[in-house]
Amino acid sequence: MIEYAALAVLGRVDPEISHGLALRALHTPLAPLPGPVRSPHLDVDLAGLRLPNPVGLAAGLDKNASAVGPLMRAGFGFLEVGTATPRPQSGNPRPRLFRLRRDRAVINRLGFNNDGVEAIVGRLAARPNGIPVGINIGANRDSEDRAADYAHAMRAARKCVDFATINVSSPNTENLRDLQGEQALPALLEGAMAESGDLPVFLKIAPDLSDEQIGAIARTAMENGVAAIVATNTTVSRDGLTDRRSDEQGGLSGRPLFARSTRVLARLFHETGGEMPLVGVGGVASAADAYAKIKAGAIAVQLYTAMTYFGISLASRIARGVDEMLAHDGFASVAEARGIHAADWLRQ
Ligand SMILES: Cc1cc2nc3c(=O)[nH]c(=O)nc-3n(C[C@H](O)[C@H](O)[C@H](O)COP(=O)(O)O)c2cc1C
Repeated sequence: MIEYAALAVLGRVDPEISHGLALRALHTPLAPLPGPVRSPHLDVDLAGLRLPNPVGLAAGLDKNASAVGPLMRAGFGFLEVGTATPRPQSGNPRPRLFRLRRDRAVINRLGFNNDGVEAIVGRLAARPNGIPVGINIGANRDSEDRAADYAHAMRAARKCVDFATINVSSPNTENLRDLQGEQALPALLEGAMAESGDLPVFLKIAPDLSDEQIGAIARTAMENGVAAIVATNTTVSRDGLTDRRSDEQGGLSGRPLFARSTRVLARLFHETGGEMPLVGVGGVASAADAYAKIKAGAIAVQLYTAMTYFGISLASRIARGVDEMLAHDGFASVAEARGIHAADWLRQ
């Protein structure tokens, strides 16, 4: 009830102010923080990380790791904070965050506003024990050597996190997505891997890639020791939108991204022969959505946008729902259900 009332109020406030208030509210006793949802069906191994459940927080909601403690108790199986860049930066001018209520979507062009990797890592180092927490890393907008930025951020973060995600897929830093290309990606990964020590390194990719590009990225990731691929970031497509805000520039997330990002996921599953752990992100708003991502090839999922409409308690509701669906279908684990519908997505 309290969460429902809070959502009604926050829905009327400027989206960025509302976001800040919601993060602060997590530190109050009113926040719904049930602790990680656990069950034998939900226990997942993600690239060597033990997750109590496969429902994770996507990067961007807690860019500065300012609410990691409460978020660790919100029901998720793992968290990703950031994007963190080597130097702090303020991002693009406001307004830069838009709700597309009719489409259950969001457009953002925040542009990696963050406190810088050192400050963020300092907060992460002080977090309590609990679920795995990773950091998403990126390059500064005005960087002259973007590959070096990833290596720098990796070096700063590696001792304080459980995994690091290389983000080469944000549409809001000019030309950043070119780093996914066959020329740039191997060198970037090599430099970042050299600084990662034993840390599992994930790679987060865009949804707006051709099958050939997805195949090339999958091969490069496998050759360079990437531990998991996160699919996907926001899209620059505007297909199927009805909200009047649909022509705002930036990355689109939420319901309209679901099918597009799930097709990329299934393609990755196919290209990697099921060998690469995959995290499915994009438009997850229910247990059925999360289960569909698992059946398309994900061993874990992440979400962000749906929580702006349905609240933070959505994470635990989804985890419990996936638990029931696995049991109903006779699967002993997420791993058993993983990828069973991947081929269907490739035909779409
Ligand atoms: C407001 C906003 C900010 C985001 N910031 C980041 C970010 O800093 N780094 C990143 O890798 N992804 C970022 N994302 C993308 C999400 O992590 C996720 O990949 C995408 O939104 C699709 O998931 P969703 O439909 O559940 O939101 C952001 C998304 C939103 C809506």
